[in-house]
Amino acid sequence: MEQEIDKLKKEVLDFNPKDNNELLLFRQKFLGKKGVLNKLFSDFKSLSVEEKRKIGSPLNELKGLINNVFNADNQPKTQKTSNDSIDLTLPGLNTNMGSTHPISFVRNKIIKMFREAGFSLSKGPEIEDDWHNFSALNIPESHPARDMQDTFFISLNPDMMLRTHTSSVQVRYMENNPPPIRIISPGRVFRNEDVSARSHCLFHQIEGLCVDQDISFADLKLIIQYFVNNLFGKEKKIRFRPSFFPFTEPSAEVDIFWGLETETDYRITKGTGWLEIMGCGMVDPAVLKNVNINPEKYSGFAFGMGIERIAMLLYQIDDIRLFYENDIRFLSQFRSLTN
Ligand code: PHE
Repeated sequence: MEQEIDKLKKEVLDFNPKDNNELLLFRQKFLGKKGVLNKLFSDFKSLSVEEKRKIGSPLNELKGLINNVFNADNQPKTQKTSNDSIDLTLPGLNTNMGSTHPISFVRNKIIKMFREAGFSLSKGPEIEDDWHNFSALNIPESHPARDMQDTFFISLNPDMMLRTHTSSVQVRYMENNPPPIRIISPGRVFRNEDVSARSHCLFHQIEGLCVDQDISFADLKLIIQYFVNNLFGKEKKIRFRPSFFPFTEPSAEVDIFWGLETETDYRITKGTGWLEIMGCGMVDPAVLKNVNINPEKYSGFAFGMGIERIAMLLYQIDDIRLFYENDIRFLSQFRSLTN
């Protein structure tokens, strides 16, 4: 063994690597798991005490010589640590970050406002049956009110359709939850309408519903005024204009006073200064009966609004189609919106 160590010492001293590869091979041969050094040390364990005394010091010398080969200037480079080709001073690559879509932004903002007023979130399916979209909402078959909303029916099953409004979620929620109820339901709705700058066959609504004892029109007015002030950031004049929906009685449409200062104001308000932003009313007792809520004991209000319409007002967008075209020139204007 002594001779063997001497021979190895000589080999190590003579070693003069020409390239990285030789250095790697050397390391593997001497320091690898099954390398020379490990083998010598394990043989060493089985020697007698006397032999150990003799071999110990030359063996340690050999170990020192091997380690010396790998001094600071002689570190073998593996592929991973090689960084010759990376210039850390170069400017980084530009990544295009997405941003919140204006519809999502406005929807989230409205949800947040109502949550803070004690409403919770509820969602329903986009493919609805006749009961939830129409009949339970006091719109029986052959009722002319069905013509108010041109419906996409599912041709395989004429009882099924794409929901025409989020009012269907009111029915679903009331069927499964007893009063008191305070919910807000955002979602996509579909109407078989010609696509133009003002209307689209797909858009988004937010529905609100509150059912409890002693709920009156005054409560509805309060929550709508709260909503409008919050949305526009200041006290806005609103008016409730009598209207008709089969599922609310009395019904109203809410207008906000937009003003008549500029020519655009004239155009979008058709010269009146007022803009319609939502439909609302007191839940019709017939609807409460349909979902087994006693109309003698409970009353409620409901409202529904189009998110696109609100977003168009807030950001002065004059063509609804822009929301769905994914044109980066349009979307990038809303980069600063985050929620
Ligand atoms: N669902 C009605 C629509 O689509 C809006 C509405 C909701 C009206 C709730 C009154 C109460 O136009």
